[in-house]
Amino acid sequence: MKSKKLTFKHKVYKHNKALPVEIQKLIKQASKQTKFSYAPYSKFYVGAALLLENGKLIGGCNQENVSYPLCICAERVALYTYGAKTIKSKIKALAVTVRYDLKVLKEPCMPCGACRQVIQEYENRQGQPIDIYATAESVDEIIYFKGIETILPTAFSQSTLL
Ligand code: THU
Repeated sequence: MKSKKLTFKHKVYKHNKALPVEIQKLIKQASKQTKFSYAPYSKFYVGAALLLENGKLIGGCNQENVSYPLCICAERVALYTYGAKTIKSKIKALAVTVRYDLKVLKEPCMPCGACRQVIQEYENRQGQPIDIYATAESVDEIIYFKGIETILPTAFSQSTLL
């Protein structure tokens, strides 16, 4: 038996002013998206935004359903919106944020497991990692990951199939 240690490397920014202006704008866009979040069941209003290499921003927010398993996360709405357009420009960064009134969150909102798998798919499609910024409206600090591998190590990936 061999034991293997996986390390989790990320950066924590104390405040968004410490980030490049384009990333501050990206987080602002994610925050705007929470207004369109449809979350009557969880009241967990999540917004996501993508920054493309051409400077364009694409947003998404969670869309819930009375049949709970049909709910879809903000990150996937943003990524599938991007995927549904004929955009040549690659995705440089993704930001996610949340507004939640039922509890004061002390940690940024991390992408769920399903979204991590979908982010992995888009990274693979474009042959380039995506910078990920996890935030929450009630939290000053921002967690940054360089690529999904950091938070989805040993992923089920394309290389398994082909
Ligand atoms: N949610 C997201 O939109 N993104 C995540 O990464 C975590 C969870 C949504 C799904 C559901 O509408 C609500 O948050 C509560 O789970």
